[in-house]
Amino acid sequence: MAKSVGILTGGGDCPGLNAVIRAVVRRADAAGWDVVAVREGWRGLVEPIFEDLGPQQVSGILPRGGTIIGTSRTNPFKLEGAVERVLRNFSDRGLDALVAIGGEDTLGVAARLFAEHQVPVVGVPKTIDNDLSGTDYTFGFDTAVAICTEAIDRLHTTAESHNRVMVVEVMGRHTGWIAVHSGIAGGADVILIPERPVDFDEVCNEIASRHANGKNFSIVVVSEGCELPGAEDKGEVDQFGHRLLAKRGVGERLGEEIESRTGYETRVTVLGHIQRGGSPTARDRILATRFGLKAADLVVEGSFGQMAALRGDAVIAVPLAEATAELKTVPLEWYDVARTFFG
Ligand code: F6P
Repeated sequence: MAKSVGILTGGGDCPGLNAVIRAVVRRADAAGWDVVAVREGWRGLVEPIFEDLGPQQVSGILPRGGTIIGTSRTNPFKLEGAVERVLRNFSDRGLDALVAIGGEDTLGVAARLFAEHQVPVVGVPKTIDNDLSGTDYTFGFDTAVAICTEAIDRLHTTAESHNRVMVVEVMGRHTGWIAVHSGIAGGADVILIPERPVDFDEVCNEIASRHANGKNFSIVVVSEGCELPGAEDKGEVDQFGHRLLAKRGVGERLGEEIESRTGYETRVTVLGHIQRGGSPTARDRILATRFGLKAADLVVEGSFGQMAALRGDAVIAVPLAEATAELKTVPLEWYDVARTFFG
């Protein structure tokens, strides 16, 4: 009888998920394995919600955003009796392996299931935030950066025409990867990231000196995760226990402060979920495809507790435990590249 591998996508949706699914199915099928979709992330193993997934079902999905097998932020370790149900459903369905595609939360669950319950799982690093250790880049990040860069280009025209300061709030949770990369690519005049404390005086001085030097507009990119006085959350968390950072209104708060301190007319744009939507860039499609093939290869050779990762230009395997141990923050060298162009 053919062996079976389950596949699930967990956490926020992300461009490139379907490219991974397609690659896993194609490579596993060629190796004689059946693939089973575990729908809606870990919820699909808790409930259970399974569906057969063959080459027919994944045909034509490469350029599509989102995930054809659904996602959720269900965390079995936070629900009474859910881990036992995951183990039972995994075995009742006759699964021999599992590919979990997700960020730190989804892969954190995978790492624990492997370490504590010997579930034969392989991970694939997904997140627009690019904050996973163990891999140089996650897929989805390049698309998010491209979307933010295009938005910054478009906001430039209004900033210039109206002599305004335009504040752009981008996602990224507790790291500033999206802000730094899109800010550099879009030529932002100030970039604020969670890794560096925000100093309103410093921000307003950069803008004022720029205007004193003859420019009458500025673009400020701010990460949703920056800590600012007056931008506190109301304690709302998702199912993994993460604070809902976007609800704090960091961009609005910064915009108010800039306008009142400098007197320059200021507008705020919050890019929100636009950053995760739609078709992946060519780079993300290729990275996601390579990750999917690697994950299927790891399953077929029986190397579990591993995650596909990018190091330089090579796709390699790293232990899931290493990848989920700590967040990958933006190093100072990257911020220095951005800072050269401030003001
Ligand atoms: O992790 C991806 C991400 O888009 C973060 O950048 C953001 O903080 C969060 O998810 C938003 O989550 P939700 O889709 O639950 O609003």
